[in-house]
Amino acid sequence: MESKKIRQPIVTICGHVDHGKTSILDCLRGSCVQEGEAGGITQKISFSLYPIEQLKIACPLIESSGIKLNIPGFLLIDTPGHAAFTNLRKRGGSLADLAVLVIDINEGIKPQTSEVIQILKLNKTPFLIALNKIDNISGWRKLNSSLQKNIELQPKNIKQVFDERYMTIIGSLNSYGFDSDLFYKIDDFTKKIALVPCSAKTTEGIPELIMMLCGLSQKYLTDKLILGKEAKGIVLEIKKEKTINYIEAILYDGELSKKDEIAIANLDGEPTITKIRILEEIEPLCPKFKAKDKVRASTGLRMQFVEKTNVLPGMPFMFYNGNKEEIKKIFEKEISEKIKTDKNGIITKADSLGSLEALLILLKQSNIPVLKAGIGSINKTDIISAKANLKINELDAIIVGFNVSIDDEAKTSGGEIKILTDEIIYKLIEDITDFRREKSREIEKKRLMGLATICKLKILPQYVFRNTKPAIFGVKIEAGKLIPGINLINEKGEKVGRVKHMQSENKSIEEAKENMEIAISTPNVNFERELKNKQFLYSDISDSQFKKFKKNKDLLSQNEIKTLREIAEIKKRENMEWGN
Ligand code: GTP
Ligand code: MG
Repeated sequence: MESKKIRQPIVTICGHVDHGKTSILDCLRGSCVQEGEAGGITQKISFSLYPIEQLKIACPLIESSGIKLNIPGFLLIDTPGHAAFTNLRKRGGSLADLAVLVIDINEGIKPQTSEVIQILKLNKTPFLIALNKIDNISGWRKLNSSLQKNIELQPKNIKQVFDERYMTIIGSLNSYGFDSDLFYKIDDFTKKIALVPCSAKTTEGIPELIMMLCGLSQKYLTDKLILGKEAKGIVLEIKKEKTINYIEAILYDGELSKKDEIAIANLDGEPTITKIRILEEIEPLCPKFKAKDKVRASTGLRMQFVEKTNVLPGMPFMFYNGNKEEIKKIFEKEISEKIKTDKNGIITKADSLGSLEALLILLKQSNIPVLKAGIGSINKTDIISAKANLKINELDAIIVGFNVSIDDEAKTSGGEIKILTDEIIYKLIEDITDFRREKSREIEKKRLMGLATICKLKILPQYVFRNTKPAIFGVKIEAGKLIPGINLINEKGEKVGRVKHMQSENKSIEEAKENMEIAISTPNVNFERELKNKQFLYSDISDSQFKKFKKNKDLLSQNEIKTLREIAEIKKRENMEWGN
């Protein structure tokens, strides 16, 4: 019987910006990508193959421990800490079999660390934690090649600092619902998250990190790592070189031959079938691609297709078995699992299927409905959809972009449409929630106020344009707002008359806000007789309107509340007591 083939576990390295993800990968590979990066910042997701033979050299512990390994190595994926953490997903779960969350031990859990923890939890991805930069603990020295011994050999006060820092992190992890401990204190790795202190600078702890990765994969993952027959993968990026599109992708299962045809999903699940023109595979330990006739999962690929395809990042592809209908069903199911939209709701955009999915999951958790979900930059069509929402529900007249840019055309045609973009998904959710809270207050207030308006006007006696029939004179809005049709009272509570027209800078206006100076016309007033010695006017408010305002005072500004109290006092109404 042929023994089952085992593929490489796919491991994502994730964590907050600058905590040392790329440096740790460099350490494993014995080369330096980090120094070659623009500004030392990882710009996009990248992958590397680490054959087990190579890891054995970097980690003599593997041989000396005597554990028997049948995994062929690892496919490690470096994610950028500065941009959105890309939620890499395949059908039914996380694309990553394992994740290494890198935390700078001296900085602890930062916003992006927390974001990653929540996404790992959401996807149920097993992970371990590299507590990096232990060499930065003041006074820390590398005294022994064994990490555990080295920790124990540190002077007492330094060991104390180390203990405090890692214990704080254990405490924080606990608040996310994770039990964790230093790896050498753990008996059951299915119950506790392992912390591996390390330094990418001195390489302390790196062999232990590799050991842990090998051990966990071998013990808990091998069933999941049995190689399937059919090639399956996801697209990471589409790259344009001159007029030619290349795609970078991960093959997470099966074998793919250059002669095969493959099916790639569009956003609506429709497959495009194509032959492969160029098939290249990532070389072990180095970010270069090499042409191949056949490749086997898990690996990183660069491909060019014969057919024109409309591929988007995050989209699934698979070996084409000749049954387009069947594949269409698979794709539709896979994509509809990820992209569920509602009948009404906001407009969303993200840079890949994975990040779109993460955004939608979090919006759902926050009870924010989504009408449209797409991949790519925010464009004019999105603005049109949001504008249509203005008429249905103003709360939904918003476009949310996760890690995407805004087209120039969309920028200029946006008008009153709110566009929110961010690279940090949790920040984005917070901003949307804030926007909706503010907006619904505004809408509620508009509904409440209706024609009833709290308003205090200061008469500007130097601007009397006409004494009567109608009287036209200048006022300043001291508090609240004024709209035509409002009945005014004076400081003694006597009725003055209705505001008929309002003008500002010789133009008719329908609304005047606090601090505006405008001219108003009131038909049944004789300014000379009735208003000459008066200073202020107020909007007349009925008892029932007063009660309504009082009940909803959370919607009013301090100034409006003050004015309402003044009105109540002027009118000397018992049932218009404000109370406390
Ligand atoms: P992004 O890709 O931008 O998210 O950063 P990253 O997490 O990949 O961090 P990177 O590896 O680029 O390291 C950030 C900085 O920390 C670099 O200047 C590294 O040299 C430094 N650094 C990384 N690991 C260590 C370490 O263990 N000790 C010390 N002292 N410095 C480290
Ligand atoms: Mg990096």
